[in-house]
Amino acid sequence: MATAPHHSMSIIFLFCVVVLSSLLLGCICSSLDDVHHTIQVSSLLPESSCKSSLTPQQDDDKRSKLRVVHKHGPCNQLVQDTANAPTHEQILLRDQSRVKSIQSRFSKTTSTITSETNRVRDSKANLPALSGSTVGAGNYIVTVGLGTPKKDLSLIFDTGSDLTWTQCEPCVKYCYKQKEPTFNPSLSASYTNISCSSSLCSALISATGNTPGCTSSTCVYGIQYGDSSFSVGFFGKEKLTLTSTEAFDNFLFGCGQNNQGLFGGAAGLLGLGRDKLSLVQQTASKYGKYFSYCLPSSSSSTGHLTFGRGSGASSSVKFTPLATISQGDNFYGINIEGISVGGTKLSISSSIFSNAPGIIDSGTVITRLPPTAYSALSSAFKKLMTRYPTAPALSILDTCYDLSKYKSVNIPKVSFLFSGGTNVDLDPSGILYAASASQVCLAFAGNGDDTDVLIYGNVQQQSFEVVYDVAGLKLGFGPKGCA
Ligand SMILES: *[C@@H]1O[C@H](CO)[C@@H](O)[C@H](O)[C@H]1NC(C)=O
Repeated sequence: MATAPHHSMSIIFLFCVVVLSSLLLGCICSSLDDVHHTIQVSSLLPESSCKSSLTPQQDDDKRSKLRVVHKHGPCNQLVQDTANAPTHEQILLRDQSRVKSIQSRFSKTTSTITSETNRVRDSKANLPALSGSTVGAGNYIVTVGLGTPKKDLSLIFDTGSDLTWTQCEPCVKYCYKQKEPTFNPSLSASYTNISCSSSLCSALISATGNTPGCTSSTCVYGIQYGDSSFSVGFFGKEKLTLTSTEAFDNFLFGCGQNNQGLFGGAAGLLGLGRDKLSLVQQTASKYGKYFSYCLPSSSSSTGHLTFGRGSGASSSVKFTPLATISQGDNFYGINIEGISVGGTKLSISSSIFSNAPGIIDSGTVITRLPPTAYSALSSAFKKLMTRYPTAPALSILDTCYDLSKYKSVNIPKVSFLFSGGTNVDLDPSGILYAASASQVCLAFAGNGDDTDVLIYGNVQQQSFEVVYDVAGLKLGFGPKGCA
């Protein structure tokens, strides 16, 4: 009889052991959680249908929110023929051209500006293809309204360039095929040409890197993005409508008469850079040079591009100072101070990061690091991935795995330390780039030289709320920004 209370004591004791050990296990698991992501291999691969349908909205009186879709995904209604979608090799090759062009803008001397300028002017509205970047890899699209009555146009948005342009009738020289009807200024009651003598015309020099031309006293812009992409046309102003209630009169833009390149059915480009002709600067009185976006982590979901602070950034957004870079002052500068892989900070000398200027760009796909930093990242990643079979390189991506035999995998976490002590833990979609389940690669590449400009690309920005507080000189990252 005396054993009964004893018995219940031991049950209580056992219970305590179970509770304690599960608590302990919980601790071990969550510390494992700091070094690994467990992901479904299928989540790395594209899906065939669009999962979200955020519509453009005015979500409070100070903010305008536009829906962002991936250029090559099922949420982009412009994409009907997937047969024409570029291969991963093509996307990465175009990305490399864009990077080369950004880098050439950093090392550009006055004489090359002059020679490019002359080529634009000599050829009138026929800009030759120049080496450099492409917006073809520029990947993310929003729809805005232009003119009176308003016509909807889908534009690639680009924080790495400034001038907004769209193809325009009568397409004097050439318009590539686009899905929406080409904008016709003669059918709009609010279009006006800018004259060559206007100071607005000379503002094109800093926005495009080219001296404008002049045709029958109308100002002619020319902008090239490298390989075969460019737009030349009349510089005009027009009513721009962002949401049903938010419109801007006299928005300066390019009315393209000769457009060629890899714009993939989009009607043109929305320039979100720092120059005074960018959309951010032209709408400064309303939105206070504040915008944010979330790039969807898969091409089958949607994100947003939001102008204005509204009720403010969510408290989970962490900020780093926005740097200004001499030579590349139209770009948004960032300073990276360190990288961690699997919870361990890589030993990379701080001079490696301080010797390379850094920018964030919505149009570059893959983050480009100083080669010394990239090789440290790649070898640390490889050490934590030894259990998985390797796969051949994919264009510029050289650290690849064959995950076709796995349903789920454990991949090391990767985090970036930005100046100001801001640590950003990348989403799994920002760590791996999958061509297929049998070729999944570390989504980073090294520059040619440690002093080349570091570019924080759009794969790494996926799923974050990326906040540009241009007036406050701050750049912010908040997790789960597309929700
Ligand atoms: C703008 O200027 C061009 C070139 O001079 C001209 O062909 C076109 O008709 C003008 N458009 C308008 C709406 O004035």
